[in-house]
Amino acid sequence: MSDRVYIFDTTLRDGEQSPGASMNTNEKLRLAIRLEKLGVDVLEAGFPAASEGDFDAVSKIAAKLERTEVAGLCRANKNDIDKAWNAVKHAKKPKIHTFIATSDIHLEYKLKMSREEVLQSAVDAVKYARSLTDRVEFSAEDGSRSDRDFLCKIFGAAIEAGATVVNLPDTVGYAIPGEFAEMAKYVIEHTPNMHKAILSVHCHNDLGLATANTLAAIGAGARQAEVTVNGIGERAGNTSLEEVVMALRTRQNYMPMQTGIVTEEIYPVSRLVSMITGIIVQPNKAIVGANAFAHEAGIHQDGMLKNPMTYEIMKPETIGLSSGKLVLGKHSGRHALRSRLKELGYELSDEELNSAFTRFKELADKKKHVLDEDLEVIVTEGILRTAEIFKLEYLHVSAGTSVMPMASVELDISGRKVRGADWGNGPIDSAFNTIAKLTGTESELLRFTVSALSGGTDAQGEVTVRLRENGLVALGRGADPDIITASAKAYINGLNRLEYLKTHPITDRQTL
Ligand code: KIV
Ligand code: ZN
Repeated sequence: MSDRVYIFDTTLRDGEQSPGASMNTNEKLRLAIRLEKLGVDVLEAGFPAASEGDFDAVSKIAAKLERTEVAGLCRANKNDIDKAWNAVKHAKKPKIHTFIATSDIHLEYKLKMSREEVLQSAVDAVKYARSLTDRVEFSAEDGSRSDRDFLCKIFGAAIEAGATVVNLPDTVGYAIPGEFAEMAKYVIEHTPNMHKAILSVHCHNDLGLATANTLAAIGAGARQAEVTVNGIGERAGNTSLEEVVMALRTRQNYMPMQTGIVTEEIYPVSRLVSMITGIIVQPNKAIVGANAFAHEAGIHQDGMLKNPMTYEIMKPETIGLSSGKLVLGKHSGRHALRSRLKELGYELSDEELNSAFTRFKELADKKKHVLDEDLEVIVTEGILRTAEIFKLEYLHVSAGTSVMPMASVELDISGRKVRGADWGNGPIDSAFNTIAKLTGTESELLRFTVSALSGGTDAQGEVTVRLRENGLVALGRGADPDIITASAKAYINGLNRLEYLKTHPITDRQTL
């Protein structure tokens, strides 16, 4: 059996199904370019039949990537497959990923179909997809709760119909590692013609076992892992890319298998995903959390000084975490900015660099040391968010122990300048009230968090908000040395994301 494990990244599809984590086409394209640099083998770019926005993003990504297979997800019907194919067909390596549920629960209550009907739909779908491209993956949704023999039968029929990958998902995150490994082994041993295809696994993290289940299945012979960066995804998320890749790399002595991932790209890509989606990585998250390489206890620090191997199983540099974080300052020039951004993985056009440089100078006036984290904010807020409807032009707040908190705000709304003022029960509340009034929006603030982007009293404040309006939920993120400005930026970013969702309805996602 081959020792190569293929990494199928679904950050842009299953990851985007994280509540509130929608990304616009520009953001998705940027991320896709970085995922290709990271070395993922397959990039699932979206679900083209779900919305025009998804179709457009998948199509743009397909046109852009050079080496990575670009997959479009589709249900097992002709209309969905046609949409997926039309979105990916111009890719260098197009792929169709079709799926249907196989568990009795899904058959009885969701699909209202018999096993025979499901089997036939799967075969028809794979055959049709295969008439369009040689790269076809078939997934048995809710596979982990499906009858094992039915799974083997449907996988065998899908392989016979032309599937090159068959995927066993733990859709609801129900499996336990030993059990999931047994299931993968059973499938490999009992599926007719299994040697003609690769067994893939796709786990969700409802019991916190997604990585463990994925590794257990790889141990049993699966050779593709479906993952997302930072483990984002539906409910408790998907298997996290960085955990699987670093486990395989770190435990070569136990699992001697290779991936094509350039591990030094892991941390920058993790940051980018967090910046774009607004989903902050928990500090104790394995591999990419802020504390993942921090040694607090004295006894640990002492050991680390004597020999890092005492307490460190991975080197921070391996995932692209540089120790020398100080980068640029007030006197740094355009060339230094371009080369540092390039090191961080951002290749900007001349026009984008000009805009980034202006923002960099503004920040360097307020803050002595401009760190990598600050540069990421400059790029993600200044360059990636070009299509936003609402932009903050001016903010003034007055607050204190003996004044009524008031905010004056000027916004650019699709090129039109509007101004207004309002009060609230604090400076942030008054800024939010004024922005809501000017934009004519009535969103509910579900969550508000503030943290520091780096150390030091001059660190930028990073704010995330979660907003809901008419049943739509969006996250917003903003950073600034002034936390009230950061809050206003986050709120406006959230409103822009809500506007995007209003104009790009995701019609079919809830059926997944
Ligand atoms: O979780 C799941 O079952 C999926 C499939 C579409 C592969 O995301
Ligand atoms: Zn999934």
